[in-house]
Amino acid sequence: MSAKKGLNLTLKIWRQKNNKSRGQFETYKISDVSTDSSFLEMLDILNENLINQGKEPIAFDHDCREGICGMCSLYINGRPHGPDTGITTCQLHMRMFKDGETITIEPWRSAAFPVIKDLVVDRSAFDRVMAAGGFISVNTSGNTTDANSILVEKEKADKAMDAATCIGCGACVASCKNGSAMLFVGAKVSQYALLPQGQVERKRRVLKMVAAMDEEGFGNCSNTGACEVECPKGISLEVIARLNREYFGASLDQA
Ligand code: SF4
Ligand code: FES
Repeated sequence: MSAKKGLNLTLKIWRQKNNKSRGQFETYKISDVSTDSSFLEMLDILNENLINQGKEPIAFDHDCREGICGMCSLYINGRPHGPDTGITTCQLHMRMFKDGETITIEPWRSAAFPVIKDLVVDRSAFDRVMAAGGFISVNTSGNTTDANSILVEKEKADKAMDAATCIGCGACVASCKNGSAMLFVGAKVSQYALLPQGQVERKRRVLKMVAAMDEEGFGNCSNTGACEVECPKGISLEVIARLNREYFGASLDQA
């Protein structure tokens, strides 16, 4: 029986020293990559090869490597998180590629996510939008209500939990021709707007988050739906419709 051969690949990878330099694609060859390895493991092997050759390894972001943290922000063959759907880059496996294939790897491209180095971008704009949303207020004087005894309609609870699966990866922004962050902000606004615990600051929260989103330079939504297609967590466009309604309602109250 012949031994199973791995993939021989050509990688076109974006290299950029820092956010001031221009950056360019560089081409690398890698051979005998197991189809069982993950995309990030393939990059690990490439980096080991580069280090052994005395060259600088490629900087890329990762942390949990199990689809939770949202760090692994790579644009692979023109798609955020690569050719598979409903997964993050760290969950992408090399069996999705063919022997002899050329794979193009870029960082997220968005004005609001400047490149720090190679494939690493600065997504702290998301953190600032989240921080603008602030806290929730809970009355803790006297007999505090047990959270489990607060009734929440099943449909609302499900929608809030679905919205809360957003991991802040930024694929929605990277896939959008306008660089819009509406899917992300819609998810964050929805998870509180639907629950009783989010009601006290409901109006203030949406106004502040939208203001922060605009200030960070994210574009406007023009309903192309690319964000929903590329979101690894299947966040629905419904959250954008809710964000618009929440914002409109809160703005009317201010007028
Ligand atoms: S909405 Fe989806 S694509 Fe956008 S940050 Fe959240 S998980 Fe990532
Ligand atoms: S490394 Fe955490 S989601 Fe990919």
